[in-house]
Amino acid sequence: MKIPFTISGTDHVHFIVGNAKQAGHYYQTQFGFEPVAYRGLETGEREFVSYVLQQDKIRLVLTTPLSADSKLNEHLRLHGDGVRDMAFWVDDARAAWEFTTGNGAVSVQEPATLSDENGRVVTAAVQTYGDTIHTFVERNEYSGIFLPGYEMYKSTLKAKSTGLKYIDHFVGNQPENKMQEVAEWYEKVFGFTRFWTVDDKDISTEFTALRSIVMVNDNMRIKMPINRPAAGLRKSQIQEFVEFYNGPGVQHIAMTTDDIIETVRQLRANGVEFLPTPRTYYDVLEERVGKIDEDIDTLAELGILVDRDEFGYMLQIFTKPVEDRPTLFYEIIQRKGAESFGKGNFKALFESIEREQARRGNL
Ligand code: FE2
Repeated sequence: MKIPFTISGTDHVHFIVGNAKQAGHYYQTQFGFEPVAYRGLETGEREFVSYVLQQDKIRLVLTTPLSADSKLNEHLRLHGDGVRDMAFWVDDARAAWEFTTGNGAVSVQEPATLSDENGRVVTAAVQTYGDTIHTFVERNEYSGIFLPGYEMYKSTLKAKSTGLKYIDHFVGNQPENKMQEVAEWYEKVFGFTRFWTVDDKDISTEFTALRSIVMVNDNMRIKMPINRPAAGLRKSQIQEFVEFYNGPGVQHIAMTTDDIIETVRQLRANGVEFLPTPRTYYDVLEERVGKIDEDIDTLAELGILVDRDEFGYMLQIFTKPVEDRPTLFYEIIQRKGAESFGKGNFKALFESIEREQARRGNL
């Protein structure tokens, strides 16, 4: 399929949250993001307030409705704090919108040009699973901090980077029986292809299981596993997500670092909570993945997981959910050649998740 536009990566992740000011403080002090831009009453915006936070190439936008009439309240009511928009950075937003809507995507916003003294930006948006959307952002002719309508924001608190660099992948959880449909939708609408698949034999524990299909765009800047629950003795973590999120949505976002040991040390010192890994995981680690550069005792102390595929190895760790509902969480990942997503860790990881689910009364 000839794709008439290029996606160069994730432009930003847009969240609807209950209190953007306080959520921003959390991402700043725990994850090391720097608040860079703002929009709200002081800039003439009456309906909502947004804070933009940045760390290297990762941009988070946190939005809270300001009035009872705002449509954004429904997103909050249904999903709690959550991801509304995985925005794609494109070279031609109009072409992206025409191509995807021409292939059956539902339009959320027709192409529109926004300008200010820093240049012009073209945006457009389409609906994907649940209430999630993809905005196309074309910003080749823009030198401002984020988008027209936003002002520079300076916090009196200095953010200290934790070494997070860019978004490696993000995962969409689907209800029972919707995974194939969503994967096919990305094939048909975006021209994405299937990169790697797992079935429930690959990723099951004694109690629960999931299935996953990984969709990628042509240059692999967008990598997107699509999960669904699979039958097990107990409730799948995917089902728990779908129940608390009230439908499909973004389950986790993986952010890269060049030094996972240093990054995780800092995140832990900042108070980020990670899923615990049992000590026994490390007893057989070298047998499973072979020689690695990192000291195994250090990895064990920090709870970092390792997996290998035919191209190399990777290190990863998962946070606990960062919202009160057991929904969104983050993955920190360092790739040393490996191109896959840590299949070898799924069993250890899921057992850890199940212990947390059991504590929540949701297993
Ligand atoms: Fe992941």
